[in-house]
Amino acid sequence: MIQYNLRKPFHQPSFSNAYSFHKTLPNYQPTPLHNLGSLANNLGLQAVSVKDESQRFDLNAFKILGASWAVAVSLAEYYDLPLAEINYDELRRCRSKSQLTFVTATDGNHGRGVARAAAWFNHQAVVYLPDGASEQRVLAVQKEGARADVLDMNYDQAVRHAHEMAEKHNWILLQDTAFKGYKKIPQLIMEGYETIIYELKEQMAKPPTHIILQAGVGSFAAAMIRGFAKCFDCRPQIIIVEPQQAACYYHSSLQQDNQPHAVEGPLDTIMAGLACGEPSVIAFEIINKQARAFFSVDDEIARRGMRILASPLNGDAAVVSGESGAVGIGLLHQLCTNEQYQSLRAELKLNKEASVLCISTEGATDSASYNSIVSA
Ligand SMILES: Cc1ncc(COP(=O)(O)O)c(C=O)c1O
Repeated sequence: MIQYNLRKPFHQPSFSNAYSFHKTLPNYQPTPLHNLGSLANNLGLQAVSVKDESQRFDLNAFKILGASWAVAVSLAEYYDLPLAEINYDELRRCRSKSQLTFVTATDGNHGRGVARAAAWFNHQAVVYLPDGASEQRVLAVQKEGARADVLDMNYDQAVRHAHEMAEKHNWILLQDTAFKGYKKIPQLIMEGYETIIYELKEQMAKPPTHIILQAGVGSFAAAMIRGFAKCFDCRPQIIIVEPQQAACYYHSSLQQDNQPHAVEGPLDTIMAGLACGEPSVIAFEIINKQARAFFSVDDEIARRGMRILASPLNGDAAVVSGESGAVGIGLLHQLCTNEQYQSLRAELKLNKEASVLCISTEGATDSASYNSIVSA
């Protein structure tokens, strides 16, 4: 007699409604994946690849993937359409019905995505930006037809404000972070982000051994981890990186109680997309279980990543990568070139067999800042 307990394979081949929906959007193209062979060689690694989300539609960041899918599902429910059938044309056909208002708080990239998605289907968007939001980011949201208000608050306070406004005016809160009692929309947003991994599955000959993921509230990183588990039959080492002023995952990991912990204060960093002090409760569950290492880094690491990607070594492609997009490459460079990190490097197996994936999640979303950093 034998007894057994056959558990589900780690890899569960799946179909993504979000990916199918994204393919119906105007001018959809997978974003490019660059293999930076000379950089890998220089860092003593087998491969370094960078997926370039500055090429995501004409929006300069990956965020539209989440916003568009959450808007689409909200509208499908409103119009009573089956999920499997939603596509751009079908949702446009329903446009004559009454207008809804989507509201969110954002550093800018997510707000731009919400504004674009609402406008596609003839609905309205209100976007709250935290104190210090750059003029270019505000204008980019307004250009999509949304109302953009800069608040005298940090990101986490702005999220609470958006929530209150949604309740007061009966607007739909389209927030990219989950908190107690608010999980459905952030889940959908994460499902939308997974399109990046579905594309990678078609672009990568071999899966990476390491993925460096930047985290704000963590929805992006958690979606990449979950998408990877669905699409690939292996477990890469997951490395999370955050700005030191907003390193809520790093600080939570130090507590060793498996609970999310917030960091407070002005969250002052050039990595505007990562300036979030409170982990998303859904993302935290995933990241806490799967990440191998957490890094809290200063702004100089992001600047270094931007410069490396802007001025590539022989034969490598140049990638225009903004502050929140380039920090993973900056960290990788620091780990591989600074002798101080030799034993950490060995521990993480960042060696000749390592093939490292980074996702440059934004282009030059603040071009004045971008130009001054890469030309310095
Ligand atoms: C460019 C960029 N990269 C990464 C992130 C991080 O995403 P999350 O807040 O889901 O961790 C953001 C969030 O706004 C972003 O704008």
